[in-house]
Amino acid sequence: MKTAWILTGVVAANLMLWGADGAALAQKYGCMACHNIVGKKTAPAFRGVANRNMRFNGANAKSKIMQSIKNGSKGLYPNFPNGVMPPNPNIPQSDLETLADWILSQGMMRGRGMRGSMGPGQGMGPGRGMGQGRGMMTPPPTN
Ligand code: HEC
Repeated sequence: MKTAWILTGVVAANLMLWGADGAALAQKYGCMACHNIVGKKTAPAFRGVANRNMRFNGANAKSKIMQSIKNGSKGLYPNFPNGVMPPNPNIPQSDLETLADWILSQGMMRGRGMRGSMGPGQGMGPGRGMGQGRGMMTPPPTN
């Protein structure tokens, strides 16, 4: 998590020098008002969002996340029964991609830093720990 802190500060400061980064965009678009990277706020943590989408949407995880950011979302996270993700129709496609990549990079199965102890098949990989039926993960709606 140290990395995230450093990124948040340093990237915000350097935004004009080397382009937009997911963490800086999440600040810029006000996402962090409701979301944390790890840990509940009024919205599910981005780590949980990443894990859920990787588990249930696989190769489509990124496009699903981009859609949810753009069109909003509700009802996917039972720990947030009244939570509504507002639509963001004005975020440019390239920023949606940066945000989606960044959110996915927070996941435990792919995330940096935790691969050694928590990689697939260990620790909290699929089928254990926060797998289906627990934590923040539920099957996707059948539509
Ligand atoms: C007003 C509070 C609020 C703000 C601001 C907000 N979100 Fe959310 N977000 C939520 C809630 C609540 C949910 C859970 C919705 C659900 O249960 O489907 C959510 C869900 C999500 C999801 C998961 C959707 C899925 O398909 O799994 C993503 C990704 C996400 N938000 C990204 C963002 C990004 C990026 C921003 C900034 C552009 C943002 N959010 C701003 C409240 C917010």
